[in-house]
Amino acid sequence: MANHLVIVANRLPVDRVVGPDGAPGWRRSPGGLVSAIEPVMRSGDGVWVGWPGGTEQDLAPFEVDGLSLVPMSMTDEEIEGHYEGFSNGTLWPIYHDVVAKPEFHREWWDSYVEVNRRFAEQAAELAAEHAMVWVHDYQLQLVPQMLRELRPDLRIGFYLHIPFPPAELFQQLPWRREILEGLLGADLLGFQLPGGATNFVRLVRQRVGHKTHRNTISLPDGREVRAAAFPISIDAAGFEELARDDEVVQRSKAIREALGNPRKVFLGIDRLDYTKGIHARLRAFSELIAEGHFSVEDAVFVQVAVPSRERVEQYRILRDDIDRLVGRINGDLGRIGRPAISYLHSSYPREEMAALYRTADVMAVTPFRDGMNLVAKEYVACRVEEDGALVLSEFAGAAAELRQAWLVNPYDINGMKQAMLDAYHADSKDLRRRMRAMRRTIAQHDVEAWATRFMTELEDS
Ligand code: F6P
Repeated sequence: MANHLVIVANRLPVDRVVGPDGAPGWRRSPGGLVSAIEPVMRSGDGVWVGWPGGTEQDLAPFEVDGLSLVPMSMTDEEIEGHYEGFSNGTLWPIYHDVVAKPEFHREWWDSYVEVNRRFAEQAAELAAEHAMVWVHDYQLQLVPQMLRELRPDLRIGFYLHIPFPPAELFQQLPWRREILEGLLGADLLGFQLPGGATNFVRLVRQRVGHKTHRNTISLPDGREVRAAAFPISIDAAGFEELARDDEVVQRSKAIREALGNPRKVFLGIDRLDYTKGIHARLRAFSELIAEGHFSVEDAVFVQVAVPSRERVEQYRILRDDIDRLVGRINGDLGRIGRPAISYLHSSYPREEMAALYRTADVMAVTPFRDGMNLVAKEYVACRVEEDGALVLSEFAGAAAELRQAWLVNPYDINGMKQAMLDAYHADSKDLRRRMRAMRRTIAQHDVEAWATRFMTELEDS
């Protein structure tokens, strides 16, 4: 008890590591969210509740870099039902335009309810009187209401990091009403884009029957819930500093050399997820080579695919598809020591990412649907020389802010080819004009500004 800020998220902001002496330990994960909230957590007796990954049971609260963390354990069945099942086999595809087919299983739902209840109970136990509790993302949409029932004194905020779908898709969910009611336990609901907030309010009106006025919902008990857009961002200054770091600069030169000093380096960095449009993007690039617009000496595509949700079938199928496609492209178009695609199935620390961003002349971020896409923003923050081209999907949340990118429809392969080609040939004046404007946007709207705005509005709600 006695915490004035409780962050509740499916994951803890730490990764397991093995120290040089072989002893297991924790390291803070690179996400911007934790750094944004960190000052408030320290000054306001904050605590973070989340799953550390794995199936270890009965974990005790611990501290990493002065952050108080309360680990929630999950059993194998809960990982299967709550995390891989309902969160990532049902909700994830529905919330991303049904890019893959969602599956509906009643046991998955039961497990989702059970895990949400445990998170809510834990938060209820930790929060001081009238504390602020900030719940994150689609894995925990029932927590706000469950928590309100346990602790009506709390101020509860909820932020959805992924898109909130249009009513036409959301209403496929057999548990649509329960989810809407779960979310309505919050005082303030944050979405990436205004469209998400509008979709939510419309659904509440249609499916739950509450009165709404613009983005405010009036509940029968007199409580008001507000839904609004809070586009998330990155630690822009931190990335910029990293990009200027001498070791990162040297590493970037070494990467370019290792790639054979091509005229242009294209880059994609994504979690290996079917929403990211990796397959279509690599096809577009390979067709440009096959058609002779440039050669494998002129350009290489570095694709980093970060392993993700590897036990979920759709993700396994995707990995095989990408492996096959990369093999075929390199087999058909590559020369000795010159693959068309340099494919890396791995995750990298922030320093290596910054070096890759520095190296990339063209960054391709082409998801079919994405809540925001922070990679696009990180790329912009790292382009300290004000050059480099961003090819960005219209269907990433980031497109609402990064208007000077080469915006593409990721379903339109010819359109993507044209944008990649334009980016390849763009002159330095055009690149500078676009990058400068995007850098200004990112510098003004960083993750700290995002977190402060959300928490201030929650405080005032
Ligand atoms: O932002 C979407 C999100 O699902 C987060 O909630 C999550 O922590 C991250 O992407 C990575 O996914 P996962 O936790 O399933 O590895």
